[in-house]
Amino acid sequence: MSVLTPSSTGMSDAILVEGLQKRFGSNTALAGVDLTVPEGSVLGLLGPNGAGKTTVVRILTTLLQPDGGRAEVAGIDVLREPDRVRAVIGLTGQYAAVDEYLTGFENLEMVGRLYRLGKRESRVRADELLERFDLTDAASRPAKTYSGGMRRRLDIAASLIARPRVLFLDEPTTGLDPRSRLGMWEFIADLATGGTTILLTTQYLEEADRLADRMVVIDRGRVIARGTADELKAQVGGQRLELTVSSAAELTDAVRLLTPLAAGEPQADEQTRRLSVPVRGGTDALAEALRLLAGSGVEVLDVGLRRPDLDDVFLSLTGHAAEDGSDDGTPAGRTATQTAGSAR
Ligand SMILES: Nc1ncnc2c1ncn2[C@@H]1O[C@H](COP(=O)(O)OP(=O)(O)OP(=O)(O)O)[C@@H](O)[C@H]1O
Ligand SMILES: [Mg+2]
Repeated sequence: MSVLTPSSTGMSDAILVEGLQKRFGSNTALAGVDLTVPEGSVLGLLGPNGAGKTTVVRILTTLLQPDGGRAEVAGIDVLREPDRVRAVIGLTGQYAAVDEYLTGFENLEMVGRLYRLGKRESRVRADELLERFDLTDAASRPAKTYSGGMRRRLDIAASLIARPRVLFLDEPTTGLDPRSRLGMWEFIADLATGGTTILLTTQYLEEADRLADRMVVIDRGRVIARGTADELKAQVGGQRLELTVSSAAELTDAVRLLTPLAAGEPQADEQTRRLSVPVRGGTDALAEALRLLAGSGVEVLDVGLRRPDLDDVFLSLTGHAAEDGSDDGTPAGRTATQTAGSAR
């Protein structure tokens, strides 16, 4: 399959991963992952819970040793020269790593000193980043008084202290409210424009769509797809006929009635009583669907055609939706009760 061939760009890769393997006891977390991230670009690393995303990030940031394969960051081998790798990277882990008892300012200053920036430079940089992340008012309060979103912002600020060339962001906006998330997206986009290479993991496909130049989808430690957002969407193809009906029983009827039109497995969500059917032929399919439903006793509350988005890509590749549940303004996680056959 052509999608499984990494597009290597040779010397200008800021991140290079080949045949990466990692086992935890009998559990294979990575079963041979290949990926490259060209310098100055953003890679979205996607996959369901337990896919191996954090394991990749931990190996690349020298926190974990692989069992096989190799990895380079900024041309430096992560196994042979971890200290040199640490000097050029920034990491924001999946779980915030701030010192609860230090103030926001002190946290950043301390990280600056750890990177040997010098006292004055560390303070100037701390002030700049507090300002950039809207934390100036809270700068002299201990981090333990911060909200979850404030901690997250402080954590990301800390990873930027030493102006890293390569930045790893493991679920950078999980737990942020929609407004803070938008702010973070702008900030990450600015960093990318400024030439920072970024590897980002996320559960929010809209986030990957907005920020990532290219994406790699992994599942159970293997790469199952890669490409730009458009390439991945094209792979799923076609349009979606979507409708909402008024009861769960009608959902079952609607699936049965519309199956002749389906170009792929219909997905029904009993909770929202929504049905999504991949179709060929766009508006013709819509007209035909309405004809089939008319007089069937199924009450249609709304109906429309939609192009596939990354959620559809994810669902068709992995057999389940990307998000665990929604704590925010992103589209409600579509829990498929009838999922598409895996595209593997
Ligand atoms: N320290 C560890 N000890 C044992 N098993 C581990 C350890 N770290 C990860 N694993 C296992 O390796 C697999 C990959 O985990 P990983 O944290 O990389 O997934 P992930 O894609 O980051 O998931 P999530 O979306 O939930 O963050 C999982 O099965 C996990 O249980
Ligand atoms: Mg993770």
